[in-house]
Amino acid sequence: MNSSLLIFILNILYVSGWRDLKVRRFSDDFLFGAATAAYQVEGGWDADGKGESIWDRYLHEHPEVIADGVDGDVASDSYHNYKRDVEMLRELGVDFYRFSISWPRILPTGLPNQTNEKGVEYYNNLINELLKYNIQPVITLYHFDLPQKLQDLGGWTNELSVQWFEDYSRVVYEKYADRVKYWITINQPSTVCVDSYGSGVFAPGIKSSGFGDYLCHKNVMLAHAKAYRLYEKEYKPKYQGSVGIALSLNWADQLTNDTQNVEATDLYREFTLDLYLHPILAKSGNHPAAVRKLVARRSQEQGYKKSRLPELSAAEVELLKGSADFIGVNHYTTVLVSKSNKQHPKPSLLDDMGVDLSYRTEWRKSHSEWLRSAPYGLYKVLMYVNEKYDYPKFLITENGWSTSTGLGDQSRADNIREYLLALQLAIEDGSDVMGYTAWSLMDNIEWIAGTSERFGLYEVDFDSEEKTRKPRLSAFVYKRIIQKRILEPDWLPENLEISITQKVTREEL
Ligand code: NOJ
Repeated sequence: MNSSLLIFILNILYVSGWRDLKVRRFSDDFLFGAATAAYQVEGGWDADGKGESIWDRYLHEHPEVIADGVDGDVASDSYHNYKRDVEMLRELGVDFYRFSISWPRILPTGLPNQTNEKGVEYYNNLINELLKYNIQPVITLYHFDLPQKLQDLGGWTNELSVQWFEDYSRVVYEKYADRVKYWITINQPSTVCVDSYGSGVFAPGIKSSGFGDYLCHKNVMLAHAKAYRLYEKEYKPKYQGSVGIALSLNWADQLTNDTQNVEATDLYREFTLDLYLHPILAKSGNHPAAVRKLVARRSQEQGYKKSRLPELSAAEVELLKGSADFIGVNHYTTVLVSKSNKQHPKPSLLDDMGVDLSYRTEWRKSHSEWLRSAPYGLYKVLMYVNEKYDYPKFLITENGWSTSTGLGDQSRADNIREYLLALQLAIEDGSDVMGYTAWSLMDNIEWIAGTSERFGLYEVDFDSEEKTRKPRLSAFVYKRIIQKRILEPDWLPENLEISITQKVTREEL
């Protein structure tokens, strides 16, 4: 047996609980939640004065890119079903609900010259309904749905987007910060930039890899920092809330232990993890030196006057440094990295990184091509960040699994338990983790996969008028974990009736 296979097997045994048979308890202050995002669940795409978002425009103009042709026009219709959504959260017994605000629903032009009161009211109703049952709202300010009017002016590649986002954040804080204590500025800057202005597979569909994605990167990170500083200065003294950012932190392992693959993996981590973490968490701030140097050198070789990755000024480095009270971790899977010998288009992110990606055949497959089960990756990525950046505070802002339709989602139930065990081990080894968020509360529009990949603890019947929601097996398993605060690998519900456990406030009695 070669040594990398042995290490791999030991890793699996280690994180799948064979390390010992100890029963680990989640502490009483560990928070459990569930998440969704506006475009994916709300529907009401043009209801009551909402403006158009880049996803509305993109999927209306290009229905052919959606796997099953279903876009977010109606989605799970949470715009009309929010009371049922809160009821589901009560059934699960979660501590918090992570949802996002649709920027164009409250600012149809993208700018604060015009506020859509009906949109503001929708989120007020949702927040109040949650608080009535002691469920904390965790708000994501931006989850991929830029107002189209701002995209017409270049969107996140325009330097003014930093100001636009700060102005929008102020409106949201003004309206809701009296009741909302947890904020996430931007969800997955890597998706916002790499998939949207690089490969162009996500709205607004701009293909400018190795250039547009880097322009976007600088603006999105600065927008995050501005929104953080705004809260810190004007709202934190009054409301004492905390503000973080949700990063896509999947793990990357080397395919083999050859020096060239180890080096390729290190570089890949710099590009996919440190490019986002380093400016916020490193004492020196700024982009990681390896990425800065590599892109600057290649840009010069390719005849560019400046690095394709725009530099940060000293003031910008300072603005970003320390700009998070917690790091939101969106973690789903692990990839294997090897050095690429292929020719990639120049410039492109793939060409800059020079890697190929693959999966271990042993990793259980989900219903999404990119998503394989490798729970040890959650442990590994948290320890990587801990060692490099001195044990920051984490909130797991997303972790989940896709299936097709049906209520018997044993694979999702297993996935939750396995990843939560990996998380317990990371906590045992020193990670500071506030809580865990299951993605997703319910089935929704999985972007260009439409409804063909289901992520919900609750199944949504998209054919029904009411978008009826029903708990899957995994909903019962998650509820049980929250109740007992331990993992019981073989526990199954006796019947599939789900009841409300969340404490009711006086008001309702
Ligand atoms: C992360 C994204 O934030 C979310 O919108 C998406 O549905 C999940 N990944 C699953 O792909």
